[in-house]
Amino acid sequence: MRKLIVTEPIEGQRPGTSGLRKKVAVFRQANYLENFVQSIFDCLPDRQGSTLVVGGDGRFYNRQAIQVILKMAAANGFAKVLVGQGGILSTPAASCVIRKRGAFGGVVLSASHNPGGPDNDFGIKYNGTNGGPAPEQLTEAMFARSREIREYAISDAADIDLDQIGMQSMDGMAVEVIDSIADYAELMETLFDFGAIKALLSSGNFRICFDAMHAVTGPYAKAILEGILGAPAGTVMNGVPLEDFGGGHPDPNLVYAHDLVEIVFGPDAPDFGAASDGDGDRNMVLGQRFFVTPSDSLAVLAANATLAPGYAKGLTGVARSMPTSQAADRVAAKLGIGCYETPTGWKFFGSLLDADKATLCGEESFGTGSNHVREKDGLWAVLFWLNVLAARKESVEAIVREHWKTYGRNYYSRHDYEAVDSDAANGLVAHLRDQLPTLPGKKLGAYEVSYADDFSYTDPVDNSVTTKQGIRVGFTDGSRVVFRLSGTGTEGATLRIYVEKYEPDPAKHDQDTQAMLAELITIANTLAEVKTRTGREQPTVIT
Ligand code: G6P
Ligand code: ZN
Repeated sequence: MRKLIVTEPIEGQRPGTSGLRKKVAVFRQANYLENFVQSIFDCLPDRQGSTLVVGGDGRFYNRQAIQVILKMAAANGFAKVLVGQGGILSTPAASCVIRKRGAFGGVVLSASHNPGGPDNDFGIKYNGTNGGPAPEQLTEAMFARSREIREYAISDAADIDLDQIGMQSMDGMAVEVIDSIADYAELMETLFDFGAIKALLSSGNFRICFDAMHAVTGPYAKAILEGILGAPAGTVMNGVPLEDFGGGHPDPNLVYAHDLVEIVFGPDAPDFGAASDGDGDRNMVLGQRFFVTPSDSLAVLAANATLAPGYAKGLTGVARSMPTSQAADRVAAKLGIGCYETPTGWKFFGSLLDADKATLCGEESFGTGSNHVREKDGLWAVLFWLNVLAARKESVEAIVREHWKTYGRNYYSRHDYEAVDSDAANGLVAHLRDQLPTLPGKKLGAYEVSYADDFSYTDPVDNSVTTKQGIRVGFTDGSRVVFRLSGTGTEGATLRIYVEKYEPDPAKHDQDTQAMLAELITIANTLAEVKTRTGREQPTVIT
């Protein structure tokens, strides 16, 4: 039976870069989840009689939240919900299911790469009919709704059995529990040369290692890499999803994916290593004792895209987030295709992909993807690399070095200062903003500032304007430093400083990244008064 429950607005339900993320304890407050879900539904007036996709990354509170969402969907006019078995859908798989099944939209439960468990993070985001994250106008409308909400609708039906594949019913609404992997695996098979990858993996002289970090990609990677593609059992490590990710921080970078890094940089290193994050949309790619920066990965995949059957016709364009290095721009220029610089956040790629202006997209934050879904896709990136490796029959390192020779190398690093006092972080950004007009033409050490601005983006498809997306200081030699505050942190503020230096000379492609960037890093720290304003001597994480 449908029930209307009286409620009060709850503070702070504004979605960030990628949905509403809070500590589990916050989500467990009375009416907290219900208020936000009702705010989502209230902003979808056309939902009546439609199909919704629901799933999450399996973290703590996933199952309970899904039962609440199902009951609220039933009471809010949805005709059907497709839910991943066990409540599991990786973020890219959810996007795939929405598109393939022609659903109205989807609710995805994840806090991505943030730690999980009772004392850690939970999250919820809404994806639209195109399978992509809701645009900012919609998330802002949901936030506005959360501030005036007075009641929510929920069914008092019994829980659904989330583990039983097939049709069930809840208060007159159909609930279909679907295989979490099948639709996604089928899509991958249409994009990549599975025959060639299978031959490579079974050749006996090519070894790979995939770290699922006890998060959602475990079952996907096992089914595709070990199952369909015949990689030996054990190729997928940390492959059982755990509600707290085994106490780890499921973010695939050199710091947090330490199990993998130890193997890939160890004495018996495999030829290829990769990892994915909590909800399966991020990726890190490694060769034998060799790290591929996400920015380089995008550029290399763009340059080699036609080797994969799904991209054999070529790309319409490439898009990257503003702080991502400009390596992909050089590939786009050579290919004579479009190149777009967007604010941080995958949602900004959606309109470019829908309008077929871009085929590949990527972000420095370990995100790569294409028009096959409307989210970034960790396992897709891994399969793309394997396809390129199978076609070129060269090592990861050889392919990247060859790429640098052709296009030049964009030395790149990001310095993060996590859990900084929010006022101090805002003050730091304000201080940078104040300096902007005075910087162009100024000499800072060996570098001369050519432009300095606060990045603002006009979407070329719908002309929407997004301002204040990060401070850029560009130098006359093409080097850049960029400053922005993270939109995904849940504790204080996280300051990110992105540093990039372009080096065309192949004789200088073998240098240590931090050493190459040392002067730019000092310039950035001085401009932003990092030490005095944050009280920090060192960044928390360097990637
Ligand atoms: C999420 C988004 C990405 C974004 C990343 C970094 O993963 O999906 O699109 O690049 O967060 O965001 P942040 O604001 O923390 O730098
Ligand atoms: Zn993620």
